[in-house]
Amino acid sequence: MKRVAVLGATGLVGQRFVQLLANHPWFELALVMASERGAGKTYAEAVTWVLEKPLPKQAFELTLYPINVDLLVKEKVDIVFTALPPDVAKELEPQLAKRGIIVVSNASPMRLEPDIPLLNPEVNADHIDAVEVQRRNRGWSGAVVKVPNCTTAIATLSLKPLADEFGIGRVVIATMQALSGAGLTGVPSMLILDNLIPYIEGEEEKVENESRKILGFFNGNRIEFNNSISVTASCHRVMVLEGHTEAIFVELKTRATVDEVVKVMEEFRGNKIKGMGLPTAPEKPIVIRREVDRPQPRLDRLEGNGMSVVIGRVREDKTLNGVKYIALGHNTIRGAAGTGVLIAELLVKKGYV
Ligand SMILES: NC(=O)c1ccc[n+]([C@@H]2O[C@H](COP(=O)([O-])OP(=O)(O)OC[C@H]3O[C@@H](n4cnc5c(N)ncnc54)[C@H](OP(=O)(O)O)[C@@H]3O)[C@@H](O)[C@H]2O)c1
Repeated sequence: MKRVAVLGATGLVGQRFVQLLANHPWFELALVMASERGAGKTYAEAVTWVLEKPLPKQAFELTLYPINVDLLVKEKVDIVFTALPPDVAKELEPQLAKRGIIVVSNASPMRLEPDIPLLNPEVNADHIDAVEVQRRNRGWSGAVVKVPNCTTAIATLSLKPLADEFGIGRVVIATMQALSGAGLTGVPSMLILDNLIPYIEGEEEKVENESRKILGFFNGNRIEFNNSISVTASCHRVMVLEGHTEAIFVELKTRATVDEVVKVMEEFRGNKIKGMGLPTAPEKPIVIRREVDRPQPRLDRLEGNGMSVVIGRVREDKTLNGVKYIALGHNTIRGAAGTGVLIAELLVKKGYV
């Protein structure tokens, strides 16, 4: 068993990590950390648990510590999952890597740097080898590996089979994003009930840039962005608890019928990690719904234990000479903690841990 810790364990992404790690076959949840607020309490006392299943009993009695790099080293933690605000993560994560720790991070700083893998494993698991370059460049024996922005993780999974089979050019994305995407105390109820907020700070830039990195190439020295793709996004917060819905419009480089598009999406098995036996990998990364009114967040977000992206309403798009469809994914599982755990499994399988 590898010893793991969750930093930011009381937040929404942190709670998902605790849930996914409590009964994991390869990982032992050894430490949980957050701010000074709950320090010294048990995890059960400190957390405001909001997930659909009860707090796992393995986590009840864990002591909640404030962030403490020395303690992580002393306790011989192999992997640290971070679910911290960006400013905290930016300072801390390089310090952890310098002390030899592998960091799997949900925070946005460093995501676009050319020696930092930004992994959506079914799409670009091969970028993981940039860890070697990162260690050379930065002189550290640990590593920082990033989980993509939640909206981007969902979109790129749906785009990958189309890029491989037909080639893609311009991509337009309009999102309807869940409240949990803003964290436990993110959006006050007075602002969102009976409402929609047509702005999420920094989100559109993240989707536009990260997608081109994830669909880009590792050339042995750096991860190159895919500049033959251009992505434009408009991001909106809606009154849904979990599950981001995205209307995606894609230019295809070679003509394809709707049936051909549905077929390659449905048959996509995430070749980059297929057959590796990673416990968190869903059998079908993409699930197609054929009903006219699906996918819907409440009904479809837990498909594949929250790791599958559910696609519906695949139609021809005459404006872009391509297709348009609706994609739905679980933002704190596929869009955060679930992909984080899948990345850690990949790191173990590839011998980086
Ligand atoms: N929510 C999503 O769907 C999602 C998806 C992808 C990425 N992310 C990213 O993941 C990170 C966490 O997001 P979240 O939604 O889980 O946020 P959240 O619910 O607000 O949780 C934040 C966590 O960070 C801890 N924290 C805050 N300030 C701290 C400090 N100064 N020192 C140590 N710990 C501190 C909090 O601990 P206390 O409880 O002690 O305050 C809490 O555990 C963010 O970078 C976010 O952008 C979120």
